[in-house]
Amino acid sequence: MQRFEGRVAVITGGGSGIGLATARRLASEGAKVVIADVDASSGKAAADEVDGEFIATDVTNEAQVEALFQTTVDRFGSLDVAFNNAGISPPEDDSILTTGLEAWKRVQEVNLTSVYLCCKYAIPHMQRQGKGSIVNTASFVAVMGAATSQISYTASKGGVLSMTRELGVQFAREGIRVNALCPGPVNTPLLQELFAKDPERAARRLVHVPLGRFAEPTEIAAAVAFLASDDASFITASQFLVDGGISGAYVTPL
Ligand SMILES: NC(=O)c1ccc[n+]([C@@H]2O[C@H](COP(=O)([O-])OP(=O)(O)OC[C@H]3O[C@@H](n4cnc5c(N)ncnc54)[C@H](O)[C@@H]3O)[C@@H](O)[C@H]2O)c1
Repeated sequence: MQRFEGRVAVITGGGSGIGLATARRLASEGAKVVIADVDASSGKAAADEVDGEFIATDVTNEAQVEALFQTTVDRFGSLDVAFNNAGISPPEDDSILTTGLEAWKRVQEVNLTSVYLCCKYAIPHMQRQGKGSIVNTASFVAVMGAATSQISYTASKGGVLSMTRELGVQFAREGIRVNALCPGPVNTPLLQELFAKDPERAARRLVHVPLGRFAEPTEIAAAVAFLASDDASFITASQFLVDGGISGAYVTPL
């Protein structure tokens, strides 16, 4: 499949995990990929690997986000796909009883304000073109509660989900689709850091996953490629769950 031949995709957080897997997938289907990441070494390596471009960007910085999309259009002629995916999940974001205001704010900035900024500065380019596809990374925790709380993370992803729905509706008749990707737990550095390297903590979560395992980044990338492509031409404002069945489960198989 070459669904992205002649198309330009910006991927925030493209240096690692889901973003990196998506960069590989979109490039393999013909896209020119622009990697935006705060980590210059992994971002540059990813861009080199997919014959793309690296633009150093802190997604919490308004001027840098504006420049990211403008530079992309200036250099490559269009902005067809914006995958607003950068996010963090730091250990100091935990129960509401112990999470301080600084940790709360930092997670809101990186996970939610960043998506606001990326959409704000991507959409005008797509309006001019009369087309475009935005995929914002939310999470399954935007639709479910967890007793193992990360209070700011969960709230930030709920915000991404609601904002995405509203943007999808607002810009639908201008040819711009906006969808929220809601991955279940994925085997990436972010999650490994959190609990995958601790078998007991991992097991507590895995029991709730009908498929009985964490997702691989390539499985999430396949969903992003679908949402970003014309194959999803009638899908907008959606809450696109790629969660191994977690959100549909009461009792899982033994
Ligand atoms: N891994 C999971 O289980 C999981 C599940 C659901 C949702 N998500 C979400 O998927 C997205 C990607 O997660 P991942 O697991 O691939 O994480 P990751 O840590 O592997 O990659 C995140 C990338 O974002 C970059 N980044 C962080 N802060 C940034 C900033 N301020 N500006 C620019 N780039 C920044 C990092 O440098 C890194 O390259 C996140 O939004 C995360 O919340 C992850």
